[in-house]
Amino acid sequence: RSDFSLRGRAAAKVVILGAGVAGLATAYELGKAGYDCTVLEARDRIGGRSLTIRGGDRLPEMSGETQQAAYGDGVYFNAGPARIAQWMVTLDYCRELGVPIELFVNDNPGAYTYNSGMTAPVRTRTARADAFGYVSELLAKATNEGALDKSLTEGDRERLLDFLSGFGDIGEAYTYQGSTRRGYQTDPGIASGTRLGPVPSVSEVLGYGLGRTVAFPFDYEQAMPMFQPVGGMDAIAHALADAVGRDRITTSTQVTKITNKPDGVEVVHSGGSTTADYCVAALPPHVLARIPGNLDAQVVSALRTPVPLAAGKIGLEYRRRWWETDERIYGGITETDLDITHIWYPSYGFHGTRGLVVGYYNTGPEADSYARLKHAERQRRAVEQGMLIHGEKYRSELLTSVSVAWRMQPHIEGAWVGWPSYEVGFRLLQEPAGRVYFTGDWLTHLVAWQAGAFDSARRVVTKLHERVLKEG
Ligand code: PHE
Repeated sequence: RSDFSLRGRAAAKVVILGAGVAGLATAYELGKAGYDCTVLEARDRIGGRSLTIRGGDRLPEMSGETQQAAYGDGVYFNAGPARIAQWMVTLDYCRELGVPIELFVNDNPGAYTYNSGMTAPVRTRTARADAFGYVSELLAKATNEGALDKSLTEGDRERLLDFLSGFGDIGEAYTYQGSTRRGYQTDPGIASGTRLGPVPSVSEVLGYGLGRTVAFPFDYEQAMPMFQPVGGMDAIAHALADAVGRDRITTSTQVTKITNKPDGVEVVHSGGSTTADYCVAALPPHVLARIPGNLDAQVVSALRTPVPLAAGKIGLEYRRRWWETDERIYGGITETDLDITHIWYPSYGFHGTRGLVVGYYNTGPEADSYARLKHAERQRRAVEQGMLIHGEKYRSELLTSVSVAWRMQPHIEGAWVGWPSYEVGFRLLQEPAGRVYFTGDWLTHLVAWQAGAFDSARRVVTKLHERVLKEG
């Protein structure tokens, strides 16, 4: 994967619509093979959803409200993508482009779990110890009572019991009686630690409803170690833009018409019109579908098939890093069933003075309900929910915040898309419509990951290049 390159040089002219990761990667790869690329971007900055907000940035929303970020020096908010798994092609681009990376803490047992079944938030390590402990005890009981005799040989039963003893920390008695895995009230040192208060009952622990939550870090996309570019996710888009050549990219330029012609493509836009041999459309399908031109009705209907989805985030800047000093949380995520869904603690700037906490990262109806609010209301509501976990300091130490509602971002209008089925439309759009090609994470099985955008861009440049070499 990392040694991807187009073989043989070519000189065709290509106009690329959209300076998000897919569009920039297309221009970058084609540029390396000798193509003459121009990138048109509707927004006033490159990167698309790979958006990092810093002090001084403006964030207009389709609601008409514009936020002005007042973050301190060195503080940034990854409003879009924020984590990269070690298997993703995104890391190959970081290496190739010299974008430094650091660990992103995606799983921290010291963060909290807060589900409505709980009277107070518990450390995730405690919730996991209790959940695994009781499940192990129950399974051991069933095994010993003969309930699994039909499924397991005698030897298997022995081995299962042995597994459960270690997995749930339930000893040879096969009963869960708490475990040091739950953590301590006072940490061990010269003195032995003091255990946490009473172990909840099995029924209480089942009432937490933790199946999905405790399993999140097992997901292929979400497993540690994960990474982030040092200084903000937009470092990747900026390194791509530098490599492409800033003079080849025009921002604040809206495309108004795309016309396939027998020997080229004409793109009319707010800055005039551009003619090229080929066009690569790297914008969201629902936005592209509205641009007039002569794309087939079938193609337009395919572009309307993926459904734009909602997601939102708020970046809360605090005057002190109370999560580190007061609560011993260094990065990672608190999982809740509140409408904020998650609280992310920063994986950069440890032991610094200020720091940025993501106060909500939600999707679907929760994201839509925050999207309907003005920023000040979003902040108020997020802080109120976060106080259930962190108490008064969650309000009193707050300096400033910025929130993003992806459905309301101009020229983007969604966090990512969902395909009702990966059938007809998805397949049709993998092929060019005349001289117009399509690319984006939305054309992959890695929707909502920059890796999807890179993968799709590689496929498109490969196909386009093959055609150019053949047609001469
Ligand atoms: N890539 C995004 C994230 O990690 C969205 C996503 C979430 C995609 C979960 C797949 C699974 O938050």
